[in-house]
Amino acid sequence: MTRVRLHDKDFETFIPEADLSAAIDRVAADVSAAYQGKQPLFVGVLNGAFFFASELLKRVTIECEITFVKVASYHGTRSTGKVSQLIGLNERIEGRHVVVLEDIVDTGHTIRHIMDILAERRPASVTIATMLYKPDAYKQDVPITYVALEIPNEFVVGSGLDHDGLGRNLRGIYKIVEKKALVESDQSIA
Ligand code: IMP
Ligand code: MG
Repeated sequence: MTRVRLHDKDFETFIPEADLSAAIDRVAADVSAAYQGKQPLFVGVLNGAFFFASELLKRVTIECEITFVKVASYHGTRSTGKVSQLIGLNERIEGRHVVVLEDIVDTGHTIRHIMDILAERRPASVTIATMLYKPDAYKQDVPITYVALEIPNEFVVGSGLDHDGLGRNLRGIYKIVEKKALVESDQSIA
């Protein structure tokens, strides 16, 4: 098991790169089947979704477009629940089939905000595709249509996800090592 330290926190291997890749394969196949002939517009949510957007798009087999937006909603290891505006959405949304691409859906505040803004622009449809989903943390009723992997309510990094800016480049997914687990492993070494 690989362990890495990012700022003040330790993280250990959680989801191997191959498992994540296989999960993204499944989402790409589902999306390609569902949007055949609809020329969907994928909207990746920066910064975190750059990895998922890239991995998903190279597997999608149908005609499609992609654009990126940015929201600022999260600091440190806990969701603030505060979301600022959506930056960079210049495409015409009206009448389009939109698929929002997220790195992770946690409480759902971010996705709720994005869905509200997109709805004002009268798309033909909007769905969400996320790399990771924490069902135990989710507090919204917006359906999350495409999920690569569900995870427990723990803080994770890697494959686009960060801890205060670090860890986005890690392969696969790493989860935070709780203090208790650290003490136990220290004792087992002693
Ligand atoms: P939500 O608004 O609570 O659903 O949080 C969504 C955003 O918070 C994601 O797009 C991430 O940027 C960030 N986030 C939530 N959980 C994690 C995590 O476990 N690791 C890193 N970032 C996270
Ligand atoms: Mg994000």
